[in-house]
Amino acid sequence: MINLIIQSLLTQEQVPIVLIHGLQQNAKDFSNVSLWLSELFPDRYIKNCEVGNGAESTIIMNINAQIAELSYCINNDPKLASGFVGLGYSNGGLLMRGYLELHNHNKAPMKRLITLSAPLGGFFCGTKSECYGYGEFSEFLAALAVDVMYSKIVQTAFGPANFWRDPYNLDIYLEHCVTLPVLDNLKNFSEQRKTNFMSVDKIVLFGSSKDGAISPWQSAWFGTWAEDDEKTLKMEERDVYVQDTFGLKTMNEQGRIIRIDSEMNHFGYYKKEEFIKNVVGPWLVM
Ligand SMILES: *[C@@H]1O[C@H](CO)[C@@H](O)[C@H](O)[C@H]1NC(C)=O
Ligand SMILES: *[C@@H]1O[C@H](CO)[C@@H](O)[C@H](O)[C@H]1NC(C)=O
Repeated sequence: MINLIIQSLLTQEQVPIVLIHGLQQNAKDFSNVSLWLSELFPDRYIKNCEVGNGAESTIIMNINAQIAELSYCINNDPKLASGFVGLGYSNGGLLMRGYLELHNHNKAPMKRLITLSAPLGGFFCGTKSECYGYGEFSEFLAALAVDVMYSKIVQTAFGPANFWRDPYNLDIYLEHCVTLPVLDNLKNFSEQRKTNFMSVDKIVLFGSSKDGAISPWQSAWFGTWAEDDEKTLKMEERDVYVQDTFGLKTMNEQGRIIRIDSEMNHFGYYKKEEFIKNVVGPWLVM
């Protein structure tokens, strides 16, 4: 009897895994992660998606278009039609969150979301904080004037501008930034997005004070800058949490938001077999 139960558990169809890479990367940067996961879960289907043409597309396509690319990759694969675990790294983690909120009611359903240092609370650096990690790239962002950053043309054609959350110009950000304020349900409020956000069993967030790229690093745990880029707010201290605009508070109170200190540098996540297998691996079991 017991043997039969174990047998049936073992042969049960296992939930596939979808991977999506980060900024300035291609799917092949995640080929090792895909390989390690297939060694860990030999019976699971693993799909390694790419945004458009990869590295270049993560910059010159806006985030809404990148989310559409991810959706295309997922929904053109019949093996993913009954659901999957979404695993997104950095920019890719934000894309997975976007997919969850915008599409989970009418496309292949994500069953669990796992992010590796994703800028879920936005990205900003360069006034009081240092722009590290992406080096010249984030210094270039920080040097853009606020009306350029939030201009229609930059918002339309430049992915990172869609989650650039300038704490000194929050009113302009709220009005003109086209992605993050919508996902936070601060504008174009939609009950459906909130329902969708809460439709996964868990959201597992890997982040670390040693990140060295995402600014502030707490953004990986839904934290954000406070009134400047020196002090930060924890997830629980934010208005979007207190007002539960997109379901974060409900999820957290139900124990379904899990923040894990990876103690990892931003660029280490996809390079360390042991980390992927032993630290991330257990969260992929469902
Ligand atoms: C994959 O791992 C191998 C062996 O550690 C390494 O040489 C290679 O550069 C890695 N590939 C990528 C794309 O990271
Ligand atoms: C949000 O609402 C505005 C005004 O109704 C509309 O122009 C815009 O397209 C909407 N954006 C999204 C992402 O739905």
